Amino acid sequence: MPIYAVTGASGQLGRLAVQELLALGVPASDVVAVVRTPSKAADLAERGVGVREGDYARPETLGAALAGVDRLLLVSSSEPGRRVAHHTNVIGTAKAAGVSRIVYTSMLNADTTTNPLASEHENTEQALAAAGVPFTLLRNGWYTENYTGQIGQYLERGEIVGAAAGGRISAASRQDYAAAAAAALLQGEEGNRTFELGGPAFSLPEFARVISEVSGVPITYRDLPVDAYASSLQQAGLDAETARFVAALDASIAHGDLETDSRDLARLLGRPATSLTDVVRASVTPPPRPLRPTHDALLEQE
Ligand SMILES: NC(=O)c1ccc[n+]([C@@H]2O[C@H](COP(=O)([O-])OP(=O)(O)OC[C@H]3O[C@@H](n4cnc5c(N)ncnc54)[C@H](OP(=O)(O)O)[C@@H]3O)[C@@H](O)[C@H]2O)c1
Repeated sequence: MPIYAVTGASGQLGRLAVQELLALGVPASDVVAVVRTPSKAADLAERGVGVREGDYARPETLGAALAGVDRLLLVSSSEPGRRVAHHTNVIGTAKAAGVSRIVYTSMLNADTTTNPLASEHENTEQALAAAGVPFTLLRNGWYTENYTGQIGQYLERGEIVGAAAGGRISAASRQDYAAAAAAALLQGEEGNRTFELGGPAFSLPEFARVISEVSGVPITYRDLPVDAYASSLQQAGLDAETARFVAALDASIAHGDLETDSRDLARLLGRPATSLTDVVRASVTPPPRPLRPTHDALLEQE
């Protein structure tokens, strides 16, 4: 039986990918969770998954982490600016360890997009090609959670502000990307593959409408020119560089760079991607209901 390893397994996507492998019937003893801090993966160890220390920034830890591994899911590093060095360390070690396939979480349209985060993914894709180990590129679109994680703020303010105009976003839930990653790891095919992954596309005005419908609270989308959006982010407390960066992400959405009509995600999942409404529904906290009748309610009953 092949041994599967998942890096970044203490993170949100990596942990879900390990759980998806187990759900697909891979024995826990055939799964290795590679993590920077093993104590963060105690839950996986309890399920019988092999937890090994592996720090992208410390290549000396990676050889033991990848020993005996056949198929590797390399979850991209969460440290922009250091990603290429991190990923190159993992790719070089994986090659030396005899890994037979590297599955890498890249970015949607990585080779054509204007998204300011893309160059490190494109450089990693080039490093994979140069290494000569068969690879699978999972060019993931935006996580829907990038937006649903802020629903509380949207509900509080009654609006979403951005500079994405009517640009459509083929986002999907982390859970769906993780399930697709597990399916890609299990595929026994030859050669290199590229999957452009995204769910049903929506614009931010449409997203606002879905939140309104699900929550019952009217939310609107207010679009600003890119520079004005950057200024508003700065006024809200971001430093100038981060504000420009976040605004540039929206500009790339307006440009259509986070949209795809690819059906690769649904094909890997063997079902449609989770709908936007369902992801929003899971994120909108229902109004609190008392666990037991309140004092006033009891008095009313008497
Ligand atoms: N598509 C999108 O919308 C989107 C959004 C955000 C991020 N991403 C990318 O997708 C990746 C996975 O997303 P996520 O939500 O799972 O992120 P996450 O929860 O922040 O997890 C990132 C993982 O990377 C690990 N990591 C970071 N630096 C490392 C190092 N030097 N050595 C070993 N492991 C290291 C972290 O380990 P620790 O637990 O030790 O910190 C963590 O396990 C991110 O890292 C980022 O590249 C994509």
